[in-house]
Amino acid sequence: MNFRFPQRPRRLRQNQAIRSITRESQIHATDLALPVFITEEAKPVEIPSMPGVFRWPLHELERKITEWYSSGIRAFALFPKIGESKKDSTGSYILNEDSLCYQAGRLISALHLDLCLIADLALDPYTDHGHDGIIGSEGKVVNDDTVEILAKASLLCAKAGFHFVAPSDMMDGRVSVIRSQLEENGFHETGIISYSAKFCSSYYGPFRDAIGASGGASISKQSYQLDPANFRAARRELFLDIEEGADILLIKPAEPYLDIIHQAKQQCNVPIAAYQVSGEYSRLVAASQNDWLNLQSCAMESIISIKRAGADIILTYFADRLVNWLKS
Ligand code: PBG
Repeated sequence: MNFRFPQRPRRLRQNQAIRSITRESQIHATDLALPVFITEEAKPVEIPSMPGVFRWPLHELERKITEWYSSGIRAFALFPKIGESKKDSTGSYILNEDSLCYQAGRLISALHLDLCLIADLALDPYTDHGHDGIIGSEGKVVNDDTVEILAKASLLCAKAGFHFVAPSDMMDGRVSVIRSQLEENGFHETGIISYSAKFCSSYYGPFRDAIGASGGASISKQSYQLDPANFRAARRELFLDIEEGADILLIKPAEPYLDIIHQAKQQCNVPIAAYQVSGEYSRLVAASQNDWLNLQSCAMESIISIKRAGADIILTYFADRLVNWLKS
């Protein structure tokens, strides 16, 4: 058979070189940000529900950050696990300048590397109930009192040397209050990566184990995180956060919400970040441990899909391995 088709798309797929020059999206090490768990425990601890991911004590942090930096990673987002005895109902330890997160910020800043340091800003590592806000007399998460604490904590992050604060709480109006507090206190250069479209997802379970969040996977954050069914509500949050002064918008989880990432990239003139969360990581690792999926190729496919949808920055627990895969 010898048809005369004018269009033969397979011409562009015939060898590796042609496939490479016609590839539309590429992953670069500088697209990635590595979430880093830090701990008061004496030794690194591997997180059982996230094989290959560890919590790092401060005395290991200089070595690890330098190692990751040398491999090409330029952005790091820190998540503290603090001791149970320091938690209370209002998460007051977030306002202690000597708490783990700020110590880590000072330590990493002192390395004088050309990197981007991000502080996740939320109360859940610090509250004894595990919510991202303080709970009022009616048992509800109280918006404005929570925002007040977060804004104060943003100043401590800025002082400790973080380039960005990343409020991950989903309280209303917090970006505007954090922005004005930072401005009033002279922290004009400290930016805000807002978790604008953060969905109420079951994929956060392993993360809650990792930071020892009270309540674990069972706690419901539906009164503040977005309903996974809602596209327009997510769009509304994105636009509000731009108006309120966010520098970068973040969507989370990533792969189940590619439509939102795409929309944000089309409509919003700020960089778009996407967070491939703990459960997205763990499901691939677990399947690969059963020899059901190939970890490297599935992880690469998941990251390229997030990039293709429009993410400029991808937070992923694979970042440390990805940079090496990209070289091979
Ligand atoms: C909470 C926070 C969560 C994550 C980042 N910040 C969990 C939650 O909202 O319960 C999840 C990240 C992940 O699953 O990797 N402030």
